[in-house]
Amino acid sequence: MSNAKILVVYYSRTGVTAQMATRLAGRLGADIEEIVDRTDRSGPSGFVRSMIDALAERSIPIGAAAHDPASYSIVVIATPVWAHHVAAPVRTWLGAYRNRLHRVAFLCTLGGSGANAVFEQMARLSGKSPVARCKIDAHDLRDHASVRLLDVFCDRLSRKLEHVKEIEWAC
Ligand SMILES: Cc1cc2nc3c(=O)[nH]c(=O)nc-3n(C[C@H](O)[C@H](O)[C@H](O)COP(=O)(O)O)c2cc1C
Repeated sequence: MSNAKILVVYYSRTGVTAQMATRLAGRLGADIEEIVDRTDRSGPSGFVRSMIDALAERSIPIGAAAHDPASYSIVVIATPVWAHHVAAPVRTWLGAYRNRLHRVAFLCTLGGSGANAVFEQMARLSGKSPVARCKIDAHDLRDHASVRLLDVFCDRLSRKLEHVKEIEWAC
């Protein structure tokens, strides 16, 4: 699979989403980019700040993207769930780059609830229906179901990419 075709973009406060995004990119041969958050979210005050930013649905300062999403057939956007909302850095990234997205897929990690609400928000913010979605909760991480879930997600994305290539060849 060409590594120019898929970009995995993620934000992670405590490393779980980073781990999943890195594994996914490795399996897909995709490029990967971390959304750079300019806000200190460490410790209890960082947790509360994150909760407030998510609930207020506000944009926050993030670094400029290193990869142009418009250069990729599919961009996988990965976020932790914050208070049943997309994490504020990912919300901000989606607002900034929504017009540069061709196709999207969504990945979220969470403690246990809120994935569907987050997927709906991501679809609204990107203005796109995802070609695939994957949620990985704390239970999946404990019993290693996350490996299987990532496999299924990768298969779907690979099939979608093959379909895209066929269409591009036919045109
Ligand atoms: C501010 C905040 C709010 C959260 N809200 C939820 C929630 O509504 N539902 C849930 O299942 N997990 C929630 N979590 C847990 C995270 O989604 C989960 O631990 C995630 O895997 C963390 O990913 P990360 O390590 O990439 O930051 C919340 C975590 C934070 C920091």
